[in-house]
Amino acid sequence: MTAVDMTLEQALRERRSVRGFQDEPVPRATLEEVFGLAQLAPSNCNVQPWKVFVASGEVRDELRRRMVERASTGEPVRPDYDELPRFEGVYRQRQVDCAVELYQNMGITRDDKEGRARASLRNFELFDAPHVAFFGMERDFGVTVALDVGMYLQSLWLTMAAYGIGACAQGSMRYYPDDVRAVFGEPESTAILCGMSFGFEDPDVAANQTRVGRAPLSESVIFRDKL
Ligand SMILES: Cc1cc2nc3c(=O)[nH]c(=O)nc-3n(C[C@H](O)[C@H](O)[C@H](O)COP(=O)(O)O)c2cc1C
Repeated sequence: MTAVDMTLEQALRERRSVRGFQDEPVPRATLEEVFGLAQLAPSNCNVQPWKVFVASGEVRDELRRRMVERASTGEPVRPDYDELPRFEGVYRQRQVDCAVELYQNMGITRDDKEGRARASLRNFELFDAPHVAFFGMERDFGVTVALDVGMYLQSLWLTMAAYGIGACAQGSMRYYPDDVRAVFGEPESTAILCGMSFGFEDPDVAANQTRVGRAPLSESVIFRDKL
């Protein structure tokens, strides 16, 4: 499989979070092409700090099993980095709008606690994706270097979109980093920032009807050319 003939604008417009997948794995040769292209992501002084762990087959099954067990029994999470801040004001509103859109498509009402818990668990079930990637870096690298990993993540996501591969970045994949290190034989010095489930989209999964919008440009970008 090769990249479909997609413009950058199309890839930007068509990339979205996919939360339901077919069983069929992405062929290894395609994975190498896609991750090879993401490797072109820029980074501060070209240090290329991203450490990427791609789990498929038995490795994916084992990580999913461990995470589902921990999450469903309410085991406390142990992320390598602090939790998300408590969003307020406009940020809180956008967070709520995003959740409402997703839950509505999944048929979950706001006061359906059980439904929301089930939806949250879908993260650890990897939305049934045949692959999950974890993105990390050396533990001591700070926020500036984490930016580089973010650049990598978006390069990868857009490349996947161009190849017809669906994906969902998941902050929730950083909750049990010890399992990732254990399964991949990584030292404590490797810290996990987030993950991404991916594969071929199952269009019949209700969550995949989700489309979230964006704030108008004027809310995010200030152009100024006069003092
Ligand atoms: C770093 C990062 C972490 C995310 N974590 C999760 C997650 O844990 N679970 C989830 O369902 N979506 C997660 N998302 C997906 C966002 O909710 C999604 O990107 C956002 O709502 C915009 O929607 P779109 O990707 O469809 O454009 C994450 C996205 C990013 C960039």
